Amino acid sequence: MLTLAIETSCDETSVSVTDGENVLSNIVSSSVRLHKKYGGVVPEIASRFHVEYILEVLDKALESSGKRLEDIKLIAVTNGPGLVGALLTGVSLAKSLSLSLRVPMIGVNHVLSHLYSAFLSGAEKPKFPFIGLVVSGGHTALFYCRDSYKQKLLSQTQDDAVGEAFDKVAKILKLGYPGGPVVERTAKLSQGRERVKLPKTFLGKDSLDFSFSGIKTAVLYYARKSKNVDDEAADICYSFQETVIDELVEKAMRAAELYKVKSIVVGGGVAANTRLREKFTDAVRFSGGIKVYFPEKKYCTDNAAMVGVLGEQLYKRGHRSDLYLSAEPNLEVLNA
Ligand code: KG4
Ligand code: ZN
Repeated sequence: MLTLAIETSCDETSVSVTDGENVLSNIVSSSVRLHKKYGGVVPEIASRFHVEYILEVLDKALESSGKRLEDIKLIAVTNGPGLVGALLTGVSLAKSLSLSLRVPMIGVNHVLSHLYSAFLSGAEKPKFPFIGLVVSGGHTALFYCRDSYKQKLLSQTQDDAVGEAFDKVAKILKLGYPGGPVVERTAKLSQGRERVKLPKTFLGKDSLDFSFSGIKTAVLYYARKSKNVDDEAADICYSFQETVIDELVEKAMRAAELYKVKSIVVGGGVAANTRLREKFTDAVRFSGGIKVYFPEKKYCTDNAAMVGVLGEQLYKRGHRSDLYLSAEPNLEVLNA
């Protein structure tokens, strides 16, 4: 079903054309360079960027898919969670297209689209049931995904999201924005974790919840006390990255054992991290048959293709949105 999808929840303006799990085009234009000097996304700048570029991105997505607007059978759009001004651009465009083309429209939850983005890759598709781990700039959560896109929230972060923690550590160490890729690169220059000790947050023996604000504060204090923080940056990044990844891997593995499932699916911007992929791959090697699935790196960070693929699945399962669809900054994932 030829689907035009729109994603504008944060700082990526993206439009794609998908057909089932086939991605015919996926254009992503990011305002990230405009936020760099502020060390984080400035909502007003992100919103303006979407308004300015969305039509250009739409044209490019159609052109590179080889399709025309008249061919489109479904409009899928991220309607939350995210920055309200940013979401509004996508939702308004989706409504105008749906109305003028007389095709149905479906609102898609951004966290869910990350959760199911591993289905976009050409390689082996994940099989239900699985444990889903979403690790992005705004969310860190574990889900039990039963079958046919039905999921239950198991746990989430009690404070910062893991991507946000990467961004803050980069800011403390003056490494630039976004933090994830630069912290990963800087950590590669380190000799090993023994040089800097950072605490793990303990939330109770059986808890599957996450917490990353403690380690972020520990990095802040360490950096303040350090005689030469630039020299120590690599060791700090290494220790930070190892500690937070261990927490993610440990809890996802524990959830898989608890729910007796053989697959773990990871999604969201932090899933692009090579060390995270390595540590998961190592952990499942000794797990008696658990497999871990990742989206291709280009589908880890925000993109419209994941919205289109999930939107079509939900539509086929009877979900619908009407022209009263609103932009919901705090949209929650419903247990289904
Ligand atoms: O999923 P995403 O594009 O947007 C949200 O929905 O938040 O994720 C962005 C987050 C940022 O915090 C960024 O620093 C992080 O993903 N990120 C990474 C890497 N690439 C992006 N974190 C760790 N390692 C990476 N290679
Ligand atoms: Zn995202």
